[in-house]
Amino acid sequence: MATHVAVPRHVAIVMDGNGRWASKRFLPRIAGHKQGVETLKKIVRACAHRQIEALTVFAFSSENWNRPAEEVSGLMDILAGALAKEVSQLKRDGVRLHFVGDRTGLSARVRQGFSDAETETSSNTRLVLNVCFNYGGRWDIVQAARQLAESGTAIDETSLSAALSLAFIADPDLLIRTGGEFRISNFLLWQCAYTELYFSPLFWPDFDEAALDAALAEYQARERRFGKTSAQIVADVPQAP
Ligand code: IPE
Ligand code: IPE
Ligand code: MG
Repeated sequence: MATHVAVPRHVAIVMDGNGRWASKRFLPRIAGHKQGVETLKKIVRACAHRQIEALTVFAFSSENWNRPAEEVSGLMDILAGALAKEVSQLKRDGVRLHFVGDRTGLSARVRQGFSDAETETSSNTRLVLNVCFNYGGRWDIVQAARQLAESGTAIDETSLSAALSLAFIADPDLLIRTGGEFRISNFLLWQCAYTELYFSPLFWPDFDEAALDAALAEYQARERRFGKTSAQIVADVPQAP
């Protein structure tokens, strides 16, 4: 079987399970979100050390507005705080930040934080970190289709792909979802057409380098066929010595 010796170039993560992590400890859900930021910092560093080129994380979905107002505003505060605190370190670590999602529904403070962080880290090349915030896969496909319709561009796979908010980067090779749920929850619907899926039972705050390595090892044992037969893949891919 042709498997991958290489690490995935682009990893996507649905960082799920913060609330349950907190509830288990009789803490407010927001304490789980705070701990989740600590995990993200560790995993960003770990990805950079493993020569992963891009990490795309799901931080707030289009549907997360339906949560209690207190949790939504707590999440906004955590985000703004983390941005203010962490951008200079990310800059030193060579991380280039992008925020992906609908910015129109966000406060001026959050929007400003996003564009400042993007500008400050724009010359970094070690790891691209895409933070999907107020993002939904359906939103993305609709906004792309609307752009094409408005400009009178013919719709085909190439033009639609190019109008999506992650058009600047190749599709994810590996998608990890923590928290034990087996669903996509409106994450990268178009981009995950051929992504390898990996589900971890760990709550996001408990996810660590060892758990990342387990996901990477599983990825390396997979055979990606892209519609071809296994025999074709074996013929195409040079085997590791
Ligand atoms: C993921 O953790 C973070 C966000 C959706 C913002 P959850 O808050 O969904 O945690 P659980 O799934 O309720 O445990
Ligand atoms: C997905 O988690 C969104 C993020 C991690 C930001 P949810 O907790 O919102 O997903 P569901 O509601 O369990 O599908
Ligand atoms: Mg959840």
